[in-house]
Amino acid sequence: MIVAIDGPAGAGKSTVAAALARRLGFRYVDTGAMYRALTWLARERGVDPEDGPALAALAAASPVSFEADGSIEIAGIDVTDAIREAEIDRLAPVVARHPEVRAIMRERQRALGEEADSVIEGRDIGTVVAPQAEVKVFLVADERERARRRLADRPGVGAEEIAADLRARDEQDAVNTRRAADAVVLDTTTMSVDEVVDRIAALVEERRG
Ligand code: DC
Repeated sequence: MIVAIDGPAGAGKSTVAAALARRLGFRYVDTGAMYRALTWLARERGVDPEDGPALAALAAASPVSFEADGSIEIAGIDVTDAIREAEIDRLAPVVARHPEVRAIMRERQRALGEEADSVIEGRDIGTVVAPQAEVKVFLVADERERARRRLADRPGVGAEEIAADLRARDEQDAVNTRRAADAVVLDTTTMSVDEVVDRIAALVEERRG
């Protein structure tokens, strides 16, 4: 079974998807981390974030791997913490925009979802990567709450900067953020993580009949 969780930055996707995967005993696939890891490697290797073909070649040569302990590797390097830097926040949408890059990532994401029951988190999972997903959820939250959550994740960054970054990312990510017509929309603004996980787990149970 595939549970697709999509939505904008700060809507609660990562926290909810990881907790849900733990509860269900499913694999957790963080597709944003895949774009982030590629972005990190491109910066490391001096590949221009505007150069789609060069980025696609790099992605093809260096698949991202999710380790059993939850860490993320690319080109044999543990990038779990490095991919959460503010500079990667800013560069990742540029890298993720290239269709050549998305085509490679999409294939990898599909393969991961086919290997095991999975919770796949991203922007285009329910529409493009896994339109056949048995459960589709689109998480939203109001802008102030999303900025507050980001701030809690990045203690060194100012509130103004976070809010401006979030708006810029929304604009850049909008083109690839799609809500499936059959997705259940959950507004997480005033919900706890447990409440959101309970709601999605109930949808999974319903589908299992
Ligand atoms: O969810 P996140 O912030 O970790 O995502 C990092 C970047 O990758 C962000 O710019 C959105 C983009 N992304 C995407 O285009 N498609 C996905 N399926 C997942 C993330």
